[in-house]
Amino acid sequence: MDLQLLEHRVRVTSIDKSGLAFYTHPLVKLIFLPHHTRCKFFSLTESPEDYTVMLDEEGFKELPPSEYLHVAENTWRVMNVLANGFSCSAVPNVGVTKIAKSVIAPLAEHNVSVLMLSTYQTDYILVREEDLPVVFNTLSGDLRIYKDENGELVPFNLGESSKEMKKDVLFNQTVHPVLSPQNKFCILSIDPNALPSISSILLDVMFYSNTSQNRTPASSPEIESINFFAFSLIDGYISIVMDSETQKRFPTNLLLTSSSGELWRMVRIGGQPLGFDECGIVAQIAGPLADSDISAYYISTFNFDHALVPEEDIDNVIQLLRKRQESHR
Ligand code: ARG
Repeated sequence: MDLQLLEHRVRVTSIDKSGLAFYTHPLVKLIFLPHHTRCKFFSLTESPEDYTVMLDEEGFKELPPSEYLHVAENTWRVMNVLANGFSCSAVPNVGVTKIAKSVIAPLAEHNVSVLMLSTYQTDYILVREEDLPVVFNTLSGDLRIYKDENGELVPFNLGESSKEMKKDVLFNQTVHPVLSPQNKFCILSIDPNALPSISSILLDVMFYSNTSQNRTPASSPEIESINFFAFSLIDGYISIVMDSETQKRFPTNLLLTSSSGELWRMVRIGGQPLGFDECGIVAQIAGPLADSDISAYYISTFNFDHALVPEEDIDNVIQLLRKRQESHR
């Protein structure tokens, strides 16, 4: 397995739902007219609390500051894992399960905080720029690390100066509550050239979903369904995660699903906002899933984490994660 460090320098932001109107113009530009910007990494995730927008510095310039925009302090660097030269989605057992043991667990053990963004194409691991030396020292024993330089992969070597390791092993023991909404999700892609033909439905789904249905925010464990929608446009590839009910509103012939066309259930992690400093949150979910060989997509937002697992595995997953909770009491 090889690891690739991409050139994007990403900012992590949250837009209050009440302030969305101030940002629709730049968001429309970033999503539908990307050639008008120099943004190459853009991800928008709507969840009950907010819109999380992760985007590179070029894209970030498009977002005017306001009281509705919250920006995480750090700059994040993006990595993805290449298995035999292919991105992870090309091999069975997709998602974070694949990298739980080789990447996620070691990083957590060395106190590196990560943000995860799974897409139709691959799984992105975001780490703080200042943590890169630790990341490389931690992973370079087992993985070959490449750097993306003007579209070419070149082996990445650490300078002698940066060989020091950070704080030592202090694995996170906080067990965060999980809950599982009832709705089912699909993970899709679309040819960017076909995007204009679904633009009006996309605009409706992304920006007007709150007015058409009033869904309860995620507070009790028995929640029925959650308002969750993720769109990303990264290096020219589009990935969309949407509710299976929402999918029915789109023309079937344009959206690409994986051949099995499976549906996914969500596990939402965190009672209180998780923040950006804590490590091991992804690891405590991905580890048990990997042990049980269950595929999972994983999407971090500004406040919470979200794992998507095959619908037939959800009961099993809930049980696994409950066990984890009990053993920590
Ligand atoms: N930093 C956490 C970890 O290393 C995951 C992200 C949680 N925070 C968030 N805002 N989504 O496992």
